[in-house]
Amino acid sequence: MAVREIITLPDKRLRLNSEPVKRIDATVRKLVDDMFETMYGAPGIGLAAIQIGVPARVITMDLSKKDSGHEPRVFINPEITWKSDEKSASEEGCLSIPEYYEEVERPAKVKVKYLDLDGKAHEVEAAGLFATCLQHEIDHINGVLFIDHISKLKRDRVIKKFAKAAKKVEA
Ligand code: NI
Repeated sequence: MAVREIITLPDKRLRLNSEPVKRIDATVRKLVDDMFETMYGAPGIGLAAIQIGVPARVITMDLSKKDSGHEPRVFINPEITWKSDEKSASEEGCLSIPEYYEEVERPAKVKVKYLDLDGKAHEVEAAGLFATCLQHEIDHINGVLFIDHISKLKRDRVIKKFAKAAKKVEA
């Protein structure tokens, strides 16, 4: 396993539409291992493969509380099959937009179908933090960021801030 570099705004790869996984082989398993190590190291509760620069439809997640041990979950080729009309708002952050948090409104519940690491198909109904996290990560594999769900004024401000910081690093 290896910790991989997490790409951040304004890296254009964050806007890519990731490719479906065709075969779950050793390369995919290695990718998932690296994603978990990177996610736990950050630390974060969810990660999409594109955040380490790999445009594949793979998500890792662990929503367990600090002291209750790891509950690693993998979602391959995840797809939202149903969204509730009811909405809920919660504060979101993103490892690719470090140290920025903003309230985002999304469907309160979703159903998601996906494959596990053995290629077995599942469908799960999610609510609360699980629903928020799944929608946030599925957005990533479609090239969408949580700041796309906030006001244009706030979004432009954060994009400008990260663009400026990137320029400073280059100089
Ligand atoms: Ni994110």
